[in-house]
Order: sequence, then C-alpha cells, then structure tokens
Amino acid sequence: MRVITVCVGSACHLKGSHDIINYFKEAIQNSGLEKQVELKGTFCMDHCTDGANLLIDDVLFHASSVDDARKIFEKEIIKKS
Ligand code: FES
Repeated sequence: MRVITVCVGSACHLKGSHDIINYFKEAIQNSGLEKQVELKGTFCMDHCTDGANLLIDDVLFHASSVDDARKIFEKEIIKKS
C-alpha cells in the first residue's frame, strides 16, 4: 500500500493543499488505485516555507500547484504501480 500524506496546516492550506488533496482523490479514483493508494492529511510538517508539502510513503515533496501534484502523481504513483 502506498500512502500519500498531504499537509493541511495553515501555511500549506494557503498554498493550495486543499485543491491538491481533491486532485489526489480524483486521480486515485480515476486510476482505479483505491486499494493500492491511501490518501491522508496531516498537520504542519515543519517545512512551511516550501509548501504545499506532501509525503509519498516517507519521501517529502513540494507542490506549488495542482499541476505539480499531477506531475508527482504520474512519476511517483502511476509509473511505480
Ligand atoms: S503548514 Fe505545512 S509544513 Fe507547515
């Protein structure tokens, strides 16, 4: 099981983490990966200036837009599933 954890702390929220979570939700469904990929939220991960921050498994990524999140999803989830 892969785990995507998106920071929903206030700094990351201001940088669009809510839209990024919605994107991941849709992308997981559209790829039929509901049983392989779990989506979670977390509070501040102490990297506020880099946000919006997310973890895939234990690796930290920064997505400054939904488009960045899409690229990360394609590279880290689709290509590795
Ligand atoms: S609010 Fe997301 S890392 Fe601090």
